[in-house]
Amino acid sequence: MSQKLTIALTKGRILKETLPLLAAAGIEPTEDISKSRKLVFATNQPDTRLLVLRGSDVPTYVKFGSADVGVSGKDTLLESGNDGLYEPIDLGIARCRLMTAGVKGAETPAGRIRVATKYVNIARRHYAAQGRQVDLIKLYGAMELAPIMSLADEIVDIVDTGNTLKANGLEPRELIADISSRLIVNKASMKMKHQRIQQLIDAVAAAIQ
Ligand code: PRP
Repeated sequence: MSQKLTIALTKGRILKETLPLLAAAGIEPTEDISKSRKLVFATNQPDTRLLVLRGSDVPTYVKFGSADVGVSGKDTLLESGNDGLYEPIDLGIARCRLMTAGVKGAETPAGRIRVATKYVNIARRHYAAQGRQVDLIKLYGAMELAPIMSLADEIVDIVDTGNTLKANGLEPRELIADISSRLIVNKASMKMKHQRIQQLIDAVAAAIQ
């Protein structure tokens, strides 16, 4: 079995914070990813290539083994489930919180409430664990608009500085999970390419120290 390695990265802010960690582990793309429309990038290591994907697609590529390794936000992993994956390292980057939020000062209705989010699985589990009845509304972005427009009583979303909530007259309510990016590994790849992947895990772990 070849020891070629494919690493799936999340584009955007996480990518900017991931590249220095990979560089410290000796892996650098041979061209500037931010200046290219390509999706697959060669690196200075001939056996290693990088895929640059939407965050929510990274676990899918790694689960199916199209990528051996990935970098994914814990929010995405909690939402998509991590069967078929190992999650050996908390990279400690892109830290934020997954929270519920609603209109500042507004009372939450006692009975069934409407919750808008792109994290429907996480939201379902969170409210079910509290025995609260909810109707979930799937959104793909700008969750903060939903309570303002009375589409929902609450949202479940990422909070970093809290500025987006504040700017839209919302308040954070319950903490669901602390979030950061994780290194994930396909379980079969971990067996078949153990030496190569363990080397990468050790180098990235050392880079974080
Ligand atoms: C995230 C999140 C909030 C915002 C929170 O959106 O959905 O809208 O950041 O950050 P803050 O607490 O610092 O204001 P992001 O900009 O990542 O875009 P997205 O909606 O595409 O996820």
